[in-house]
Amino acid sequence: MSASKSFTIFLVVCLAMIMISIVAPPVEGARAFFVFGDSLVDNGNNNYLVTYARADSPPYGIDYPSHRPTGRFSNGYNIPDLISQYLGAESTLPYLSPELRGQRLLVGANFASAGIGILNDTGIQFANIIRIFKQLEFFQVYQTRVTALIGAEETQRLVNGALVLITLGGNDFVNNYFYTPVTARRLQYSLQDFSRYLISEYKKILTRLYELGARRVLVTGTGPLGCVPAELAQRSLNGECAVEPQRASEIFNPLLVQMVRDLNQEIGSDVFVAVNTMQMQNNFINNPQTYGFITSKIACCGQGPYNGLGICTPASSLCPNRDLYAFWDAFHPSEKANKIIVKTILSGSQNYMFPMNLSTIMAMDSRT
Ligand SMILES: *[C@@H]1O[C@H](CO)[C@@H](O)[C@H](O)[C@H]1NC(C)=O
Ligand SMILES: *[C@@H]1O[C@H](CO)[C@@H](O)[C@H](O)[C@H]1NC(C)=O
Repeated sequence: MSASKSFTIFLVVCLAMIMISIVAPPVEGARAFFVFGDSLVDNGNNNYLVTYARADSPPYGIDYPSHRPTGRFSNGYNIPDLISQYLGAESTLPYLSPELRGQRLLVGANFASAGIGILNDTGIQFANIIRIFKQLEFFQVYQTRVTALIGAEETQRLVNGALVLITLGGNDFVNNYFYTPVTARRLQYSLQDFSRYLISEYKKILTRLYELGARRVLVTGTGPLGCVPAELAQRSLNGECAVEPQRASEIFNPLLVQMVRDLNQEIGSDVFVAVNTMQMQNNFINNPQTYGFITSKIACCGQGPYNGLGICTPASSLCPNRDLYAFWDAFHPSEKANKIIVKTILSGSQNYMFPMNLSTIMAMDSRT
């Protein structure tokens, strides 16, 4: 090989290296974001599954930028979208999306699946959904794929530096314990004991997340389950929140805060942050007008009393202005309500965010 030829090869190699470094992963950019849980945070995984739990027909997505259904259980953005916006990142893609590859993997991923719960027997009526243990397995596969892209060390840095959101528990009550007047779980457990059992299983799930590298995890409890339009339609005579599901969230959520506190103590670091979505939602349920809503009882999209029966479909009655409704469908907050929730996640006091809010987390993590 002549000297000039090998010099040419050397130049080409240099050029290639420069180009690789130009398109190199934006590891120093926005932190990655990972999402686990149920329909409150599913960005569209269930669109790829054969299941009854889906939001892939109009009017879902009517206020989304594309004005089309995406699989989100919202008229527009959901809670993870709004957190991504705060992080300065694009929304995470559903893990099952074929578009989730190459550099887009470095933004993070959304593993959530509508219908699931803490327990494996929650949501069996929806057939094929991604249960939480499977979501955690997918998180491992994701890390293997990212390792092939940027190496093991950078992958660990990306995962350790990421923000994580996990939302579980609501379905274990409404789609399991309370699903029919008599259920196996109801025969087996009192509400108190069932809640304790759920919390002990939730703790195992969080511990596994920690083992898989998560170091900043927002853990949400359930909303005020008795006050959602579905429960008002089925169990309330005069529009008062339904007593038993309401009691469930009042038992479950304080136990969750206690568990998060214990787990952080065992780990020796504030890895987990309890998000009190029940209190956040109670505020606008009790005082809808203060938050710009005309009602917190009637869903925007649905049918029957409180628009709370069945699911939201093209044939449902639909409100003209979604921003005036706290609930989009029988179970899920509207985009406007999600914005109020995320604002409290960012800057709420310890009554809402324990032991600290997201802006405090971001400030702390940018210093280390
Ligand atoms: C759910 O199923 C998985 C896989 O079979 C199992 O590892 C896990 O322990 C189960 N969880 C509960 C709460 O039974
Ligand atoms: C939450 O965030 C605000 C800033 O937005 C801060 O002033 C406040 O002290 C924080 N509260 C807690 C409990 O971290």
